[in-house]
Amino acid sequence: MAIRTIITDEDDILRKKSRVIDTFDLKLHQLLDDMCDTMRKADGVGLAAVQVGILKRVVIVEVDDVLYELVNPEIIERSGSQCDMEGCLSSPNVYGDIIRPENLTVTAQNRDGKVYTIKASGLLARAVCHEVDHLNGVLFKDHTDDLYTLEKREN
Ligand code: CO
Repeated sequence: MAIRTIITDEDDILRKKSRVIDTFDLKLHQLLDDMCDTMRKADGVGLAAVQVGILKRVVIVEVDDVLYELVNPEIIERSGSQCDMEGCLSSPNVYGDIIRPENLTVTAQNRDGKVYTIKASGLLARAVCHEVDHLNGVLFKDHTDDLYTLEKREN
């Protein structure tokens, strides 16, 4: 396990579309383990593989101390809406109020390729949407014209 470098949003790789995973090998397991270490060290709620320079459809999300490993995730159902402050480890110190669905149904594969489905709501739904966006080259700040720093907001 190792900490990898998080790429920031001046790098165009974050605009590229990630590729489907078809090999569930040790290399994938190591990537997932490293992503977990990297996300936790940075105090994040989620991380997409592209943020550590790997253009593969792999994301992790950790909410309420539950870690979700989502390989080839697909959001198959969305309902409701929520608006809350959102940021990204690739855009340090920049935040926006972003509208997301309140509830999602997501299918994904686990690290061994087994397909599973989760229902997500609230922060988990927000985090999954954010990370799946990364797989398609979309950043949270594309969803708002009003970005702010926390210092600015508190004043
Ligand atoms: Co992000």
